[in-house]
Amino acid sequence: MKKILPNLNNKLPLSDAHHNKMIQLLDTLKETTHLKPDEFLYILDHITQVEKEYLFSLAKATKNTYYQNRVYLRALIEISNYCKQGCKYCGINHTIETVERYRLSKTDILKTCETAYLLGYRTFVIQGGEDAYYTDELLVDLIHIIKHIYPDTRITLSLGERPKASLQKLFDAGVDRYLLRHETASKRLYEHIHPAFMSFEHRRQVLTNLKEIGYQVGAGFMVGLPTQTNKDLVKDLDYLKDLSPHMIGIGPYLCHSQTELAGNQSGSLDETLVMVALTRLILPKALLPATTALGTLHNTGREQALNAGANVMMPNVSPTENRKQYEIYQNKICTGDTSLECRGCIETRIKAFDHEIDLGVGDFYDLERTKNDR
Ligand code: 5AD
Ligand code: FES
Repeated sequence: MKKILPNLNNKLPLSDAHHNKMIQLLDTLKETTHLKPDEFLYILDHITQVEKEYLFSLAKATKNTYYQNRVYLRALIEISNYCKQGCKYCGINHTIETVERYRLSKTDILKTCETAYLLGYRTFVIQGGEDAYYTDELLVDLIHIIKHIYPDTRITLSLGERPKASLQKLFDAGVDRYLLRHETASKRLYEHIHPAFMSFEHRRQVLTNLKEIGYQVGAGFMVGLPTQTNKDLVKDLDYLKDLSPHMIGIGPYLCHSQTELAGNQSGSLDETLVMVALTRLILPKALLPATTALGTLHNTGREQALNAGANVMMPNVSPTENRKQYEIYQNKICTGDTSLECRGCIETRIKAFDHEIDLGVGDFYDLERTKNDR
């Protein structure tokens, strides 16, 4: 049967053959959630502005099927900017001497959780550099206290690569989710943007471990990294399809002038939105944050991501006095704001783009239906 192709804003495509192929690929992806690597590459190499808008509308429709126009909010607590790792893109890696280091104590974190809870948040995302101060013992104790005071919440950790036994202990203590971006699924590129002591295979092993243990797992990657090609980005899509994580953080690479990668170009808004939309189509039920890096790149970057398939936002609730110190990239938004200000700001922004905030715990679609009482 011949398909009637959409007439996109009456704008004439440069080539009908190209346009027909592109629309067919996008429709097939929406229907089947699969494409071959060379088909993804064709999309990335050739997609026009009009076709991007079509892709975004498909991604938004897929999101609406499962999550409607609801946006889950997570309270982001940045607990420490000490980090033993050396990611060459990151403004708080251990080699950067100009960074004023801080870490939050257990009491500080509990106070921040209280603020977050009172603002309505029901997920606490505890994120930090790889800082040995946070032993299993300290974290297990912290998690027990949080879950005791706030049983109706979810805890997400984002503390880098930890041994499997440690991740198991934290899970057993009550942690629900873990975020660890794979950063890039290209081994060549991974090794280009990390020091030799960091291992591509090890990072992926940790993600596999997290899945085996039973976490809701978050992977993710950066777009526009120095020397990154469309082929590299296709690898990200393939890897994600394989791993099938519950959450996927996608943000533009933002060049930081104090890092080894200083002087490179940052990623672009459009390319990042295309990757968000394609990810929504390959993993329709995924929780996809509209990332802070997108909001830093463009005033409405996060909101545009909502219109390209994203369904989560992670407002900062870190103590305002520490926010500037957690400068993984420069000009990061919200560093001068209070948690109350961000809470109001985010709601206004979400509503302005015809979405609604959802203050539920916001589990992955399938889990919400089977494991609501965990
Ligand atoms: N630009 C964009 N994203 C960055 N991250 C770290 N540094 C940068 C940067 N300069 C991302 C990484 C990391 C997450 C916490 O932030 O993907 O996993
Ligand atoms: Fe923090 Fe807008 S979300 S100021």
